[in-house]
Amino acid sequence: MPYRFTSTALHTICRSGDEFAKSETMNSERGARSDEKEKSTNGKHSIGHKSIVLVGLMGAGKSSVGRRLANVLNLPFRDADTEIERASNLTIPEFFEIHGEAAFRDGERKVIARLLEGPQHILATGGGAYMDEQTRTLISQKGCSVWLKADLDTLLKRCLKRNTRPLLQQGDPRQILDDLMRKRYPVYEQADITVESADGPHEVVVSSIIKALQAHAGHTTSAAIC
Ligand code: S3P
Repeated sequence: MPYRFTSTALHTICRSGDEFAKSETMNSERGARSDEKEKSTNGKHSIGHKSIVLVGLMGAGKSSVGRRLANVLNLPFRDADTEIERASNLTIPEFFEIHGEAAFRDGERKVIARLLEGPQHILATGGGAYMDEQTRTLISQKGCSVWLKADLDTLLKRCLKRNTRPLLQQGDPRQILDDLMRKRYPVYEQADITVESADGPHEVVVSSIIKALQAHAGHTTSAAIC
């Protein structure tokens, strides 16, 4: 069942990338307090009631972009991995080591289901979450999915900055990411919206997401975006 923009809402989410970039600069110059006024014109009502769910491989920028997107849309941000860490009191590598991947996937499914039951927010999922059929179905019902698509070099460059991904510790990270791309990209393709996440400022990706939401709404007669 698609969710819909009101015409005012459509206008607010559909600020062009240039306008967004300009306002970002102005916001940082004005400081955090005056940002509130800017955000209020960009309120959560502007994207209907569903959460925006970011999917994609490790290093696609789901968390970094998600945090910024939430800020622009004045919505809460949730990160599924962080929620798992909080609930288990373990880091993701510790969780994998102690409980194994199957238990992690189980926890991931439950955490995402719980989050999607809650109020509208921006949700960054872990790279494997969307591969779970149950989770995919739930996301399509309760959210608007956005695949952050990146090329191998970009993913690798970002992933190598941190040592927190257990799947990449099991061999050559480039080869592992390449294999995951082959396996997962056909599934990520099912997302409602696809946005390129190129190497560069995350603000550019945020702007692309907002434009993509606009384009998606424009493709339907009733301004339904998901
Ligand atoms: C995983 C991605 C990670 C994390 C876990 C497994 C995956 O999240 O959930 O290490 O299967 O791709 P990020 O995509 O946020 O790195």
